[in-house]
Amino acid sequence: MNILFVGDIFGSAGRRIVREHIGHVREAHSVDLTVINVENAAGGFGVTPQIAEEIFDWGADVLTTGNHVWDKKELIDYLNSAGAESQDRPRRVLRPANYANGVPGYGVFEGVTASGIPYAVVQLQGRVFMTPIDDPFRAADAILARLNAKVIVVDFHGEATSEKIAMGWHLDGRVTAVLGTHTHVPTADERILHRGTAYQTDVGMSGPYDSIIGVEKDLVMRKFLTGMPGKFEAARGNPKMCAALVSCDSATGRASAIQRIQLGE
Ligand SMILES: [Fe+2]
Repeated sequence: MNILFVGDIFGSAGRRIVREHIGHVREAHSVDLTVINVENAAGGFGVTPQIAEEIFDWGADVLTTGNHVWDKKELIDYLNSAGAESQDRPRRVLRPANYANGVPGYGVFEGVTASGIPYAVVQLQGRVFMTPIDDPFRAADAILARLNAKVIVVDFHGEATSEKIAMGWHLDGRVTAVLGTHTHVPTADERILHRGTAYQTDVGMSGPYDSIIGVEKDLVMRKFLTGMPGKFEAARGNPKMCAALVSCDSATGRASAIQRIQLGE
């Protein structure tokens, strides 16, 4: 079984480059399950229901987000429109599972691929150099205790490499893949851990690389040079799609390979 995980889509440049490549990548690698992080898909801040629907139209099965999930208010109604047992698109948009109990949306989705393989996608968010939230490690343990699927993909949205690597080892042998998002820079450490979990600290942004992690570079440099606040806008130059392709045994969920993908115009 092949799983395609596309890193954080950033703004219109990110949407355009993923739209250009996702079809041929899914076909070339006989992808069974497609997961896309969309937390910055709407101009770099959050995602709208309209953009989520468009990305589902490209063949995505599950969309993940992160700390920007609440940026577009209209997404909250979209998340609330699906019940826990629903398989509809709004239920397939995840927010971090270790947010406070009772917030809109869900952090876990369990589904079945077109070829009949049960799977789960789990989203967690780190706490190091980020807004404090519930413990992602204990949240992962609690979630895994109640999942039936063997094929489990974890999007760990975090800033610190150490926390992400710790989560990889914590979940090694218990999930198919732990894939990092949020820093927007792909890391060259993709590997299969000792007990069969595919791991990469950060899959990297799918967005404009002539930028500072997606944002127009002059605006960010001005902030660093002056310390003054300013409005950030999504850049457009040099878009690349970054993704990880994970192969696994569909019966056990054990990963056999992970490959980095980076495609430009
Ligand atoms: Fe983020």
